Amino acid sequence: MHILRRPRRLRTSAAVRALVEETSVSVNDLILPVFVVEGQNVKREVASMPGVYRHSLDNLLDEIGQCQDLGIKAFDLFPGLDESKKDKYASESWREGSMYLEAIHAVKSKYPDVVVMTDVAMDPYSSDGHDGYVENGEILNDETLEYLGKMGVAQAQAGADILGPSDMMDGRVGYLREKLDDAGFSKVAIMSYTAKYASALYSPFRDALESAPKFGDKKTYQMNPANIKEALIEAELDYAEGADYLMVKPAMLYLDIIKMLNDNFALPIAAYNISGEYSMIKAAAQKGWIDGDRVMLETLTSIKRAGAKIILTYFAKEFAQIQQQR
Ligand code: PBG
Repeated sequence: MHILRRPRRLRTSAAVRALVEETSVSVNDLILPVFVVEGQNVKREVASMPGVYRHSLDNLLDEIGQCQDLGIKAFDLFPGLDESKKDKYASESWREGSMYLEAIHAVKSKYPDVVVMTDVAMDPYSSDGHDGYVENGEILNDETLEYLGKMGVAQAQAGADILGPSDMMDGRVGYLREKLDDAGFSKVAIMSYTAKYASALYSPFRDALESAPKFGDKKTYQMNPANIKEALIEAELDYAEGADYLMVKPAMLYLDIIKMLNDNFALPIAAYNISGEYSMIKAAAQKGWIDGDRVMLETLTSIKRAGAKIILTYFAKEFAQIQQQR
C-alpha cells in the first residue's frame, strides 16, 4: 500500500509517544482538598469516598507534611462542624479561635511555603445547610454577602493565601475584594467558583461535612447543568469584580465549559474534580471493573487538555505517589 500520511508513525514506541505528548499533569497543577474536624488524633474515613479522611488538626498537619514531601504545594481546607456549632448566620465561621481559623493558622505557621486555600460559603456552618442566609425558605443574596465578608476577612487574618467563594451569590467576588482590601489584605487572592453547577455529584462531599441542605435544593444559586451561556456571564462578572482565578465545577462532565473559559479569559482556569467524580472511579475500581490508577490519570489529563491549568482533586496524593514511583 502506498499511504503518504501514516499517523501511526508517531505512536511507534514509548519514547516517540513521549516526544509528541501534548499534555502532561504535574503535581504543580494540583490542589488537594482536605477535611478538618474538631478533636485529637481523629482520622475518620468518609464512607462514600474511600481513601479520603476527616482529620483533626494534629493529624492534618502530619498529612500535609507527607503531601508536601511528595511535591504537593497547595491545599484547600474544608471544616466539618458539629451540629451544635451551626446557626442561621454561620457565626462560627468568623468566631475568633474557631477550629477552622485555628487550622488555617496552624498550617501556615508550620508550613509557610504551602498555599492555603479556604472555602467561603455558609453551608458547613449553617443550621439550614445552604450556602447563603435563609429567611422564610428563601436564600437571600445581598444579606448573605455581609456574612461572607466577615468569614473571608477572618480567613485572611488567619493566614489564608487564596479565598474560594463557593456560594454562587451575585456580587460576592467584588464584595470580598473590597472587604479584603479595606482590611489590608490586598495580597490575598480570590479563586472564584465561577461556573458552579447544581450537580448531583456533590453528595459524598455533603456526607463528609454533614452539610446537606435541610430543605429544598441549591438550584436558585448553582447553575443549570444544561446551560453554557451563563458561564460566560459569570466569568465576565468575576473578571470585572477582580477574581484572580476562574474555576469550573464539577470538572469531568463540564470540559466544554473549561475550554470555553480558557479560550475567552487570560486568567488561570481551575477545575474542581469533585467528590462524586472521585467516588465513581473508586467504586468501579474497587469492584475490579476498571483500572483505577489509569482512569485517574486519564481523567486528570482530560481536564488539563480541556484547558484547566489547576485541578482541585482528591486524587492529588495518589497521583503524586504514582509519579514518584516512576
Ligand atoms: C459548598 C461546597 C460544595 C463543594 C465545595 N463547596 C458542595 C455543595 O455545593 O453542596 C463540593 C465539593 C465536592 O463535591 O467535592 N459550598
